[in-house]
Amino acid sequence: MSGRGPKRLALVTGGNAGIGLETCRGLLEANFHVILAARSQSKADTAIAELLSSAPAGSTAEALILDLASLDSVRRAADSFLESERTLSVCVLNAGIMALPWHRTEDGFEQQWQVNVLGHFLLCRALLPTINDGTGRVIHLSSRAHYRHPEPIDYTRLSQEHLSDQNYDRWFAYGRSKLANILFSNELARRLSEQGAQITSNAVHPGLVATNLLTNAGGNIGRGVPVSEGARTSVFVATSSEVEGHSGGYYVRSARVDAGGDRTEVSLSEDEGRRFWRSACEDLNLSEEL
Ligand SMILES: NC(=O)c1ccc[n+]([C@@H]2O[C@H](COP(=O)([O-])OP(=O)(O)OC[C@H]3O[C@@H](n4cnc5c(N)ncnc54)[C@H](OP(=O)(O)O)[C@@H]3O)[C@@H](O)[C@H]2O)c1
Repeated sequence: MSGRGPKRLALVTGGNAGIGLETCRGLLEANFHVILAARSQSKADTAIAELLSSAPAGSTAEALILDLASLDSVRRAADSFLESERTLSVCVLNAGIMALPWHRTEDGFEQQWQVNVLGHFLLCRALLPTINDGTGRVIHLSSRAHYRHPEPIDYTRLSQEHLSDQNYDRWFAYGRSKLANILFSNELARRLSEQGAQITSNAVHPGLVATNLLTNAGGNIGRGVPVSEGARTSVFVATSSEVEGHSGGYYVRSARVDAGGDRTEVSLSEDEGRRFWRSACEDLNLSEEL
């Protein structure tokens, strides 16, 4: 409890840098207790100290250690939150890598697919029982770059790319992972609504934002807006009353985009959402039922 009333809980993956850090800042300003997930304790501690030094009085945050490139780490992170028996109001699946060279994770998956997609899928499925069935919101950081993959996902090709770098194109793989973020969001929204759950699931394109993501990828992709502006859409979807009860959307500049502009046909396909769900459950040995 703070002078600003009871706090709700928000978890942000990749909360120690870039858009994630700014999302944590926005959520602290909106009076959330923030669970900042980062790959190491020191990264989380540094980010929390920086955030709290300028956040409103009474703001609170804690660290969660999460490496999406290790499914064991994801399970440990989920278990430690589950053990605390608390209810999560907002879950922002934000962490990501872009267009890195081919690398196979310890779990045997191409790294962009595991970090951007499968790790978040596993985390979200594990945390779902703790998400507030009434006001809960899941937010998936996708990207306009999903246009780099305008076709249905070829899961046979993907399986081959888990094994070797033959056919691997780092930008195509990034686009595919960002398409999968939307398909996951849509299919989760559909399944939650089918069950009558009052939890929303929406995807976000944050815009081109000047973060480490751009520097790490190299190449000439433009400079992007200052990172201080980069979390506006994520924070809007996490907190705005305009989004209440609205699920299965894709938001750009704090507005829902249902067709045209940034959207590709495949990102709207229910069949593709179902195919994605089935494939992720198979890869992670999860039941398809929520
Ligand atoms: N920047 C843009 O223009 C842009 C545009 C469209 C979409 N996006 C999306 O926005 C999201 C955030 O990107 P950003 O621009 O803020 O990038 P960023 O500054 O590079 O931050 C990425 C965050 O993800 C974390 N991360 C990376 N690998 C991880 C792993 N294996 N396990 C857990 N966390 C990991 C990073 O942790 P470390 O600090 O430890 O590396 C960092 O906290 C991404 O999903 C990205 O695809 C960004």
